[in-house]
Amino acid sequence: SDTLLYPYGPQYQDRSTPKADDGASPQISISEAFYFYGKKYHSLYVNNNGVVSFGQPVSQFTPDPFPLTDGRAFVAPFWADVDNRITGEVYYRQTQERQLLQRATADINAYFLDERFTATWVFVATWDQVAFYGSLSSKVNTFQAVLTSNGERSFVMLNYKDIQWISGQASGGDANTGLEGTPAQAGFNSGDAEHYFNIPGSWTPHIINITSTSNILDPGRWVFEVDVFVVPNGCAYKANFLPVSGIFWVDPTCEKRCQCMPDGRGVRCQAESCSVDEICHPAFQYHVCQPIRRASCQLLSGRHHTTFDGRLYHFRGNCTYVLSQMCAPSHNRSLEYYRVEVEMSGAAPGTSHIRRLHVAVHDQEIAIPANATGHVTIHGIKTLLPVALLGGKVRVRQSGFSVKVVTDWGMEVSYDGKQHVMVAIPVTYHNSTCGLCGTLNGNASDDFSTPNASLVTSVVWFATSWKAKDVEHQCGEISQLLACSPSEQAVYSSPQYCGFLKKSPGPFTACAQLLPPSGFVESCVYDLCESGGDQRVLCEILRVYTEQCQAANVTVGQWRSDAFCGG
Ligand SMILES: *[C@@H]1O[C@H](CO)[C@@H](O)[C@H](O)[C@H]1NC(C)=O
Ligand SMILES: *[C@@H]1O[C@H](CO)[C@@H](O)[C@H](O)[C@H]1NC(C)=O
Ligand SMILES: *[C@@H]1O[C@H](CO)[C@@H](O)[C@H](O)[C@H]1NC(C)=O
Ligand SMILES: *[C@@H]1O[C@H](CO)[C@@H](O)[C@H](O)[C@H]1NC(C)=O
Ligand SMILES: *[C@@H]1O[C@H](CO)[C@@H](O)[C@H](O)[C@H]1NC(C)=O
Ligand SMILES: *[C@@H]1O[C@H](CO)[C@@H](O)[C@H](O)[C@H]1NC(C)=O
Ligand SMILES: *[C@@H]1O[C@H](CO)[C@@H](O)[C@H](O)[C@H]1NC(C)=O
Repeated sequence: SDTLLYPYGPQYQDRSTPKADDGASPQISISEAFYFYGKKYHSLYVNNNGVVSFGQPVSQFTPDPFPLTDGRAFVAPFWADVDNRITGEVYYRQTQERQLLQRATADINAYFLDERFTATWVFVATWDQVAFYGSLSSKVNTFQAVLTSNGERSFVMLNYKDIQWISGQASGGDANTGLEGTPAQAGFNSGDAEHYFNIPGSWTPHIINITSTSNILDPGRWVFEVDVFVVPNGCAYKANFLPVSGIFWVDPTCEKRCQCMPDGRGVRCQAESCSVDEICHPAFQYHVCQPIRRASCQLLSGRHHTTFDGRLYHFRGNCTYVLSQMCAPSHNRSLEYYRVEVEMSGAAPGTSHIRRLHVAVHDQEIAIPANATGHVTIHGIKTLLPVALLGGKVRVRQSGFSVKVVTDWGMEVSYDGKQHVMVAIPVTYHNSTCGLCGTLNGNASDDFSTPNASLVTSVVWFATSWKAKDVEHQCGEISQLLACSPSEQAVYSSPQYCGFLKKSPGPFTACAQLLPPSGFVESCVYDLCESGGDQRVLCEILRVYTEQCQAANVTVGQWRSDAFCGG
């Protein structure tokens, strides 16, 4: 009546292995040939330490991970230091009894849908409530290996009913808990270097939970065809189980993408890298492409800065400034160095102050000039876009109106050649950035940090401290933007001017939910005050905000007309 374990015990004429440390059954001749990874076997051994072996018995009590280098062929339902002298029995029998053949036939046909299989031979080995070597506890394990064949095709079913310990005392385990030490290994080793399989959790503490894992949606049961290697509902790749449709990359730079195909068609691989919004990340034995979480910093019309942590401040400068750079502790080698500098010039009110953007990363020096599309300079040499440097570690391309620089580690810098610069850095740079974009640690209060890491309150002091070192032209003084009078403030905040961004319903309503426009409105009011309400200034800000919305895939309603921003 047990649905997981096949029937076992003396009442089914099972034999028992000797009660001996690291003992095994005698060589058992089998009545039907068993093909195991292309080799044909006529006998096997049931070993106390949780292994059914071909060719020779196994007395090794501390398991090794597969593949073994010494060519031993075996099935390991739970390879660990069993001690049946303390308690428990290791039973086995081979049978051609009709009822059991029918059960094996039905099970295999339910798991392997391709062609009909009729079992002609079944072998059942059961470790019933066995203790571990050196045990001072009452912990016992019960598990089973079922081998079945029709003389040509062969299958192995591993059933785990109750697993309470994972290592013996001589394998470093704790005598009271049966944990710690070198944990049990479960799976197969064909004897060659290619065909082997580790059940997930093998050789780790997670193997204690093998009773709740499965490749056939039946917790505690693992089933494999072993004449040729087939894993139902998944694939084996380098000995590890992958669910159907599982996608992974084999290399640490994510260039070869592999997928476990349905219907036993195995693993297919092709050249494909992560998308630009993803980063290659180690995962278990492989690598996966994961979406990058980034924080972004913005500079609008060369005067309005929003830090990574969301602090908005304003100044007018006439110099080259460090927008952002990596400034992690020097011992942290896991972060790539980068530096983004912006070159500003005093310009007439209402026009941008930005002259050029400099990006230094992976020892590349990229300069994006204002008013230029389709080219940048790299190490001072004019270069047409798109361009991929260092085999794609740094890519520069035109994206809409903006030039975009992206790196393999997830940095994204864009400049529209006019009003808007954006620097986006992965959040793994937590507390490791400095410059006008601030500290990237979720705390806007410490963003005004100078190169010597002291906090200041004055915008002028803060900005002055981030003047770039090697500036060619004479730098003028930094000035704070003049605040508007209350009456100007009221006029320019209204829906006829900057408040248009917040008008609801209005062309920006959908976008405002995703990109709150309050920073744009505040910056817009400054610029309109400065320019005395110049409509062209307003149009530029609306244009930049529209481009931000479109980059985020939000549709913006029509807002230009003949009378407003020129149709
Ligand atoms: C085993 O599974 C339980 C329940 O899901 C979980 O709490 C525990 O952390 C797991 N143990 C190990 C070693 O993975
Ligand atoms: C870019 O073009 C605008 C408008 O034509 C002009 O006002 C500005 O000075 C130019 N900027 C640079 C750096 O050439
Ligand atoms: C180095 O940076 C990585 C990535 O952000 C971080 O996980 C790690 O804790 C840092 N190490 C030190 C010593 O700061
Ligand atoms: C971030 O840096 C500040 C100043 O160096 C330090 O006091 C703080 O503990 C850091 N925070 C984290 C989460 O590393
Ligand atoms: C944010 O930074 C300020 C200035 O360093 C510090 O006083 C404050 O405790 C920080 N807040 C948090 C939540 O870390
Ligand atoms: C750090 O920088 C601030 C502002 O730039 C300056 O006033 C202060 O003297 C500097 N402190 C040290 C220790 O250099
Ligand atoms: C916008 O849509 C395009 C095409 O569907 C997609 O490739 C891109 O990732 C989307 N961008 C964002 C920010 O969702």
